[in-house]
Amino acid sequence: MCGIVGYVGNKDVIPILLEGLHSLEYRGYDSSGIAIHEGKNLSVIKSAGKISKLEELLLKSRNGNGKYCGIGHTRWATHGEPTDNNAHPHFDSDEKIAVVHNGIIRNYLEVKDSLIKKGIKFASDTDTEVIVQLVSSCFKETGSILSAIRQAVVMLEGSYALGIIFKDEPGKIYGVRKESPLVIGVGETENYLASDSPALSQFVDRIIRLGDGEIVELSKEKIELYNFDGKKINKQAQPVEKSKDIMDKKGYKHYLAKEISEQAEVVLHLLNDYLPSPKKSVKLDCLNFSKDFLDNIDRILILACGTAYHAGLVGKHVIENITAKPVEVQLASEFLNTKALLTKKSLVIGISQSGETADTIAAVKKALDTGATLLGITNRPDSALADLAKDHLIISHAGLEVSVCATKTFIAQMTVLYLFALYVAESLGKEDKKIFLLKQELRMVPQLIDQTITRGERYQEQVLKYADKPDFVFIGRGINYPIALEAALKLKELSYIHASGYAAGEMKHGPIAVLDPDVPVVSIVVPGDAYDRVFQNSIEAKARQAPMIAVAVDGDKKVESVFNTVLHIPPIIEILSPFLTVIPMQFLAYYIAEHLGCDIDQPRNLAKSVTVE
Ligand code: AGP
Repeated sequence: MCGIVGYVGNKDVIPILLEGLHSLEYRGYDSSGIAIHEGKNLSVIKSAGKISKLEELLLKSRNGNGKYCGIGHTRWATHGEPTDNNAHPHFDSDEKIAVVHNGIIRNYLEVKDSLIKKGIKFASDTDTEVIVQLVSSCFKETGSILSAIRQAVVMLEGSYALGIIFKDEPGKIYGVRKESPLVIGVGETENYLASDSPALSQFVDRIIRLGDGEIVELSKEKIELYNFDGKKINKQAQPVEKSKDIMDKKGYKHYLAKEISEQAEVVLHLLNDYLPSPKKSVKLDCLNFSKDFLDNIDRILILACGTAYHAGLVGKHVIENITAKPVEVQLASEFLNTKALLTKKSLVIGISQSGETADTIAAVKKALDTGATLLGITNRPDSALADLAKDHLIISHAGLEVSVCATKTFIAQMTVLYLFALYVAESLGKEDKKIFLLKQELRMVPQLIDQTITRGERYQEQVLKYADKPDFVFIGRGINYPIALEAALKLKELSYIHASGYAAGEMKHGPIAVLDPDVPVVSIVVPGDAYDRVFQNSIEAKARQAPMIAVAVDGDKKVESVFNTVLHIPPIIEILSPFLTVIPMQFLAYYIAEHLGCDIDQPRNLAKSVTVE
């Protein structure tokens, strides 16, 4: 994982690298560092911890003047602990070459072994150091930097985006790409390098995306592109998408709280765009499916990770319910280890907030190889998923989500899936009363979300009683089973408390053994088909002395009589209930984590975008 940035030009490099790193912090924040040309020296300054640590270090040791070329890195640790030593950039033993890397070198142990046999000493536990030592070793044989890089990459297996800087070539940066993204920012007498285009949009108007197996040699005046065979390539720069999103907490203590509060607006925006009135059909002009294709779909497969996977599970219920098309949802990382039993009649839906999640991208590519059709759902129009899903792409329009923990983008993904289900049903001519009523109820959802969010402080009071519990169990059935999974994920990632989500009916097949007075059970028990059974499963949990918390609709006396705490939501029909049941769960995780003093917007060990498989 990790984020890479590079600059060569006439401006002071340090502030530019730091600004770029801040935009890339969503890719990891275990450590950060820069390598810069300073006169005849190549200096590396790096530190474990967030970028603010690096900034402190640079304030103490450097002024920005007179340094015009450098590379920077923000790390999510894959190989080696998040220490100063394992922070990037990494030097070769002679301290002549420095490298920053995003990706994973799968054969690093073998390469390291062969280099150790040549007498090379390693200073870190990372796979990245293998790259810089290998380039250095090749350079000693060839005497040419470009040839050394080309020779080295042939020996590396895995995925990598690299920024390379040489002591003896001040004013030059080399970039290399295999699988992990790398973008060149094209300026006037200055050029940039970064892991994504948003990190460059503040500096340049045009970008060039480096393709797989390509190398770039950047100086302030020139951009030279080569393939791994050393052949020169020409590529046209394209305009960079300028984001309107501004990083602003708008008075909230955390981005997470702000993003939870924006959820009604997000859903309303999507509905206004695609379903302005229940009397009209859902309008998804971004899709180009023929009726014939939709009629003959043999299988719908949703591929996603984490929270996006949970949105997919909700989507399965909705699509099956109103289109009668069979839907399967798979974790993208697992799909990679299965036979892709897809055909030309299959529809694959890839869901990814960032559009850059490596597992999702790899899974979608594997699915495309079978001839299946892809629909992409992402929050980022300028992403790998959006690129792959050009023909059928729905942007979830949730706006910038800064907090690593996904909230408003989850609700946006769900909304898109409901709209898609309606679109398919209507395209297939299922314009019956059921569809009309669902559209009518869906239009009411933003208001109901708003009402639920205003109950935040009440939820806070209710859930803090349980903040000292070491373990939580969340249960739900049917369309609210994914919300139980999502609730457990929120609590784990924000508060570091162990939590599990279970299908309520599964409790008695094993998990019930963990229950005792120290393990609260949170049941989603809202009116509908699943109500009686979830209620029954909750009673069974209560009999094991677990403290019982319910998410239930206003006025449910039966639930109130049995549960210790009831997190009330406004009444809603079961098929739409995930829009509301998830909200008290988000608050539960947020307030408990805040109470425990956790790092809300950047929880430990995580990254917003997981760009390694
Ligand atoms: C959710 O809170 C997490 N941050 C994580 O599970 C996330 O949803 C997952 O990594 C998928 O990300 P994506 O939507 O960008 O593909």
